[in-house]
Formats: sequence, structure tokens, C-alpha cells
Amino acid sequence: MKVRLTTIIALFSLLAATLAAYQATADGPSSDVHNQQQQAKRNRSKRAQEVPREVPLAIARREVRMLDDIYKLAIVLITDKYVHDVTDFPAGAAAVQWFKAIGEKGWHKVRLIDATGMPEVQTNAPRDAFERLAVRRLKAGQDFVERIETVNGRRVYRAATPVPVVMKKCVMCHEHYKDVPAGKPVGALVYTIPLRSGQPKANKKGN
Ligand code: HEC
Repeated sequence: MKVRLTTIIALFSLLAATLAAYQATADGPSSDVHNQQQQAKRNRSKRAQEVPREVPLAIARREVRMLDDIYKLAIVLITDKYVHDVTDFPAGAAAVQWFKAIGEKGWHKVRLIDATGMPEVQTNAPRDAFERLAVRRLKAGQDFVERIETVNGRRVYRAATPVPVVMKKCVMCHEHYKDVPAGKPVGALVYTIPLRSGQPKANKKGN
């Protein structure tokens, strides 16, 4: 009987020790991870407050590539199907109007500019340092010019792509294009993409 009691006591203390050890391994590390996660979360939200969220450069670049294809395909398609003589409304003139409307909506700014030194309309001549640099580089053979600038305290991504003489019809109105060496651009599309994330104010209602 005496022996049995000691055995029972011994068994109980062994059980208690095992339970305590189990508690330590189960509680200890997992509560550490929990604390670390909480701390990381606090740090993240602190960082988010300090640094305004910005669209990654790769996304802005992709946006320009996509817009460039859409705009150029539309301009060429309109010229091909609807512009038959010099009295027809040119796709270039349509582009100037729809680019103005796009800019007013606040998504991005885009301009169709001249690279020959003889624009149809003077407002289409390169008008700031980036546009002048882009025309020089595109004429030298570069096919994409890009730069990040700060305009009125806001960071923007700027990019330019060449506009070549893609069809004979272009020369119908722009006679001097016939003197431009093959492969050289006669103009450029210049984009200014805001790097802030989210929807522009002008478009909040989705119109
Ligand atoms: C029917 C006449 C006509 C045709 C065809 C035409 N354009 Fe134009 N283009 C214009 C006019 C007019 C403007 C000025 C638009 C404005 O600012 O309102 C213009 C503007 C431009 C500009 C901006 C610089 C500038 O000269 O003002 C470029 C670049 C351009 N066109 C390239 C082309 C290309 C490339 C083609 C062929 C795909 C083409 N155009 C076909 C009449 C034409």
C-alpha cells in the first residue's frame, strides 16, 4: 500500500512536469510570433502614413505601352478608313481634342507633338525640357524616352514614343514629311502619368 502511494505521487508529479513543459512549448513561441506580427503590422501602418503610396514604375511604364498602342492604332485606323482628302477632318486634329478631354478627366496627360520643326499648329511644337529632350533622342534612334519629374510638388512619370510616317496619306497634308529620311519620326506622343495611386478627383463619379 505504501509503495503504491509513492508510485501514484511520482506519477502525478511526472504528469504535472510534462504538462508544464508542453504549455511552455505551445504558448511561448506562438505568442512570440503573434507579438512579432502585431509589431510588423504597427510598423507597416506607420510607414504607410509616412510615405504616400505610389504606383510602381513598372505599372506606369506598362500603362504607357498600352495607351500608346491604343492611341496609335485608333489614329491610323481613322486615317485609313475616314480620311480621304485634305478637306476631311484629320485624325491628328481629333487626337488633339480627345487628348485634351482625357487630360481634363485627370487620368493622365498626353500630347501629339511635332518632331520636324514645322508643326501644322504652333501649340504642337515641343514646349518643355522633357519634350525637347525626347524629340532629340527619338530622332537619334531611341524608341522610348522616360523620366520621373516633380510637377507642382507631385511626382509624375513622363514618357515619349515616336510617330513615324506610317502611310502615304500622311504626306497628303504634311507635304514636308516626304523629305524626312525613312524610319525617322515626324512626331511623338508624350505622356505624363501621375504616380499617386487611386482614382483622380475629376473621375471619382466614374463619368
Ligand atoms: C487630312 C489632313 C491630314 C492627314 C491625312 C494627316 N494629318 Fe497630321 N495633322 C493634320 C492637322 C490639321 C494637324 C494639326 C491638328 C491640330 O493641332 O488641331 C495635324 C497634326 C499632326 C501632328 C502634330 C504636329 C503638327 O504638325 O501639328 C503629327 C505628328 C501628325 N499630324 C502626324 C501625322 C501622320 C503620321 C499622319 C499619317 C498617319 C497624318 N498626320 C495625317 C492634318 C493631317
